Order: sequence, then structure tokens, then C-alpha cells
Amino acid sequence: MGKKVLVATEKPFAKVAVNGIADILNKAGYEMILLESYKAKDDLIKAAVHADAIIFRSDIVDEAVLAAGSGLKIVVRAGAGYDNVDLNAATARKVVVMNTPGQNSNAVAELVFALMLYLVRGAFSGKSGSELRGKKIGLQAYGAVGRCVTPIAKGFGMEVFAFDPYVPAEAVKKDGVTPAASLEELYKKCDFVSLHIPKTKETLNSINFALLSQMKKGAVLINTARAEVIDEPSLLKMFAERPDFRYGADVAPVCLPEIAEKYAGRFVFTAKKMGAQTEEANVNAGLAAARQIVAFFEKGDKTFQVNK
Ligand code: 3PG
Repeated sequence: MGKKVLVATEKPFAKVAVNGIADILNKAGYEMILLESYKAKDDLIKAAVHADAIIFRSDIVDEAVLAAGSGLKIVVRAGAGYDNVDLNAATARKVVVMNTPGQNSNAVAELVFALMLYLVRGAFSGKSGSELRGKKIGLQAYGAVGRCVTPIAKGFGMEVFAFDPYVPAEAVKKDGVTPAASLEELYKKCDFVSLHIPKTKETLNSINFALLSQMKKGAVLINTARAEVIDEPSLLKMFAERPDFRYGADVAPVCLPEIAEKYAGRFVFTAKKMGAQTEEANVNAGLAAARQIVAFFEKGDKTFQVNK
């Protein structure tokens, strides 16, 4: 019997991506159930009831969703970070969890430069600003997004540094990037530090004052990763003690009102996480998710499973 695949996106994909997903699923004889822009968790729970699979984005797929979807065999995060899925609950229920690594990385990488330019050009206010050329950018983690940031940074004439304990120095050097010996060195040396770490137990609140205070004068921190990797009291302390510090994020902090009230001109936050919000990224990640689901059901393909 044809499988039912729920596409649950509180932040919808571009239409062209939805059409592409439907096409892949329909060709396989599957049915797509579309739940877009939903407002209540209950809507997701109800929609999961008859699904064999779910494609989702930053939507929370927790025990309640998995329990409601008793027929679920696979859930695919159309994107990179899967901190929004309860992996243990999925494993306990024998539900395969996958992501689609690399598919939306370029969109996120391009937004890094939009945030940097906005900050160094005085929010496009007409005031004299500064340039990216000749400056140093430090990438905290050298995964798919970091690898997309590198050539763009080089196009701007920037020097690229990276710190990633999980990537061999040789692989970093091959891209013409200088590996930093330590995180502290990266923060000390660079004019811009761009975060590309996932949200994990280890990274939660890990960007603290001890680290931030190493940043050089006039430095800019860019966060297109996750809000929770920043220790917010440290962020506020940094804003208070370092008038030269600026922060641009695609994932606004909880303390946004305090920053907005006290530190005008030194921050930029997007209204809603939009790093991966391009037609191209939606098509890449959404269609990859659909293909992975078909390959899983038809061939037992578990490439990209993250809850092994
Ligand atoms: C990701 O982890 O892939 C990005 O943060 C994109 O998230 P989104 O699909 O919610 O835009």
C-alpha cells in the first residue's frame, strides 16, 4: 500500500520545493500530507497519526509526536541540525531519524556575509563603515557550512581560519584555511568569528565570557548556528564591558529586548531563523528528504541515519 508522508513545516518551504517533494512521492506511489504554518503543537500531533514518515524542519519532533504517529518508520529533518528531534524516543520506538547534511549550507553561508556587511556598514545608514577585504574570519567548526563560507570569504579578500577538533588539520589546510591551534587562538586572532557548531550537550552555553573576552578590539561575532550555544549572561556582559563588540545572529537571543534597549547599532537579528530560507535550499533539502524516504522504504537504505 502507498505510504503516507507528512510534510510538517511551521516555517513553510518555497512552493517549488513542495511541488518537487510531491512529485517524488507521487512517482513512488506515496501520498503527501501537507501541514504548513501550523500554530499549535496539537496540529502536528493530529497530522502524525496516519503518517508512515515525516519530513520536517525546525519543528519539534518529540515523544508526543512519535507516540501519536504509531505507524511511523522514519522521520527526516530537511536540514542539518537535529537537536529538535528526541533521538532516544525515536530509537526506543524503532523510528529511523535522518537529516540531509550539506543541502542548505550555501544559503546559511551567504547569510553570514549579509549579517557581517550590515554590521560593518553601519546598518546601511549612510555612516562611514569598514570593509571585509584584508580582515580575518575565524570559523568555529569546519563542517558543511564552514566549507561554503570559505570560498565566499576568499572572494571578499579575507583570510580564513578555522577551529574544529573533529576535522584533521590537513583537510582544513587543503582548502587554503589556516587551522587554529585552539579556540582561544581563533577568538584572539580574528576580526570576525562565525559559529558553525551544532547544539549538543557539549556546546550548550559554551560561548561564554572567558572566550568572548578574548576577541580583538572591534571584533564581530556571527551566529547562524543555534541561539542556545551562547551563554546569554556572558553575551550581555560582553556588550556592557566591550563597547567595541558587535553581534549578528540568525537565531535571536532571549535577552534581545535588553540588547535592543541598550546597544542600538551594535547588533542585528533576523526576524525569524532564515539562514536556510531560500528556494534553492528548500529544494535541495526538501527533495533530498523525499528521496531518502523513498530509498528507505523501497531499498532499506539507511544512509544519513543519525540515531544508530
Ligand atoms: C539547519 O539545521 O538545517 C538549519 O538551522 C535550518 O533550519 P530551518 O530548516 O528551520 O530553516
